[in-house]
Amino acid sequence: MNRIHIDLTGAERFVSAYELEEGYAGALDALKVLMDGSGAGNDFLGWLRIPQLVTAEEISRLKEVADDLAAGIDVVVVVGIGGSYLGAKAVIEALSHSFNALLPNRNHPLVLFAGQNIGEDYLSELMELMHVRSCACVVISKSGTTTEPAIAFRLIKKHIEEKYGKKEAQRRIVAITDPSKGALRKVAHREGYRTFGIPDDVGGRFSVLTPVGLLPMAIAGIDIEALMEGARMQLEQSLTPAAVNPSVQYAAMRNALYRSGKAVELLANFHPKLHFVTEWWKQLYGESEGKEGRGIFPAGVDFTTDLHSLGQYIQDGQRILMETVLSVMQPDRTLRIETEADDADGLNYLAGRRVDECNKMAELGARKAHIDGGVPNIRIEIPRLDAHCLGALLYFFEVACGISGYMLGVNPFDQPGVEAYKREMFALLGKSV
Ligand code: PA5
Repeated sequence: MNRIHIDLTGAERFVSAYELEEGYAGALDALKVLMDGSGAGNDFLGWLRIPQLVTAEEISRLKEVADDLAAGIDVVVVVGIGGSYLGAKAVIEALSHSFNALLPNRNHPLVLFAGQNIGEDYLSELMELMHVRSCACVVISKSGTTTEPAIAFRLIKKHIEEKYGKKEAQRRIVAITDPSKGALRKVAHREGYRTFGIPDDVGGRFSVLTPVGLLPMAIAGIDIEALMEGARMQLEQSLTPAAVNPSVQYAAMRNALYRSGKAVELLANFHPKLHFVTEWWKQLYGESEGKEGRGIFPAGVDFTTDLHSLGQYIQDGQRILMETVLSVMQPDRTLRIETEADDADGLNYLAGRRVDECNKMAELGARKAHIDGGVPNIRIEIPRLDAHCLGALLYFFEVACGISGYMLGVNPFDQPGVEAYKREMFALLGKSV
């Protein structure tokens, strides 16, 4: 069964039975508020039912446009930032070959990203590549006015038009934006691009299971039907008003730990392909919870890599950390360590064992050491890293995030703080208001 399993035993000793009970009661109340739509930001709850509401026709149009866009194309540049970037990036990285870019016989175009930074060198080098490779573009912005993707798209659009002509650019550019308004919608209409709408009631960071995430994933060859099926299965679990609900369990424990002084949550993975799932999670939780002087600070670590950089702090630094480990039970591949006659490197004691067994022992060892060092440990287990499990995981985190935001007493669906830097930047750039 493709179920997400939560292990709270490494965190229980850090909270009293009463605190945990309170956590569960608060999480179940918050789930009710989320489901009956009576909380703050309730006009942004469209994501809750998306796995059930998406139709076969919608999925087949996404696949059709993805196939058409990919035909004969080497590189598809996806332009977007924040919620219009991280979900697709997370899933594509998690489910693609680690060295996809260098594979000689790829069946799908390479999906690259732009508009997630304002790097002049990055954009110039990307366009240098687009010059010598056959390319297309998916531009994603809900508001249609975000500066970073707008800059990147202006440059990339011109590049594609100059290289292929206006008519062919129409086929090579697809826009995903607000169904009826905004600057990008206007441009797409004027230029005759194919478009997909982002539902009004789905905010950017909750949009991974809409065309925002699904079109780039389909272009990269990800099985989006399996992903949505995983999310649908998780919906049954994550909307169940009971203490066995893993989203409730996770939200209850992290909030109980927060109340007992653990202000920083480290999401730790032991699988390099999960790096961008952590980045997606950081945005989801950071933008949803960090308000009004409140919120758990979401940070990410890739283990075992970061055990050799941040391991010292985690073990011994300020005791403000909780650790949530994202654990994949079964790797896709099998690789064993072999015996060597002279055992010069002293590794024969591992002979015959799988690489993953060493990884799992590192995970167990780090868990034990960190708990002993005063860092509570929550484990989230997924059976495998495939589209089904990942769809379930994304939906699990979204529901837990909505619950957690309400437990904290904030509106999890707005992001007023993001405007502050923009105001300062626009003033410095001389943008007229
Ligand atoms: O979660 C959010 O709403 C934000 O992170 C947005 O996704 C991000 O700012 C990009 O916005 P837009 O899609 O309007 O360009």
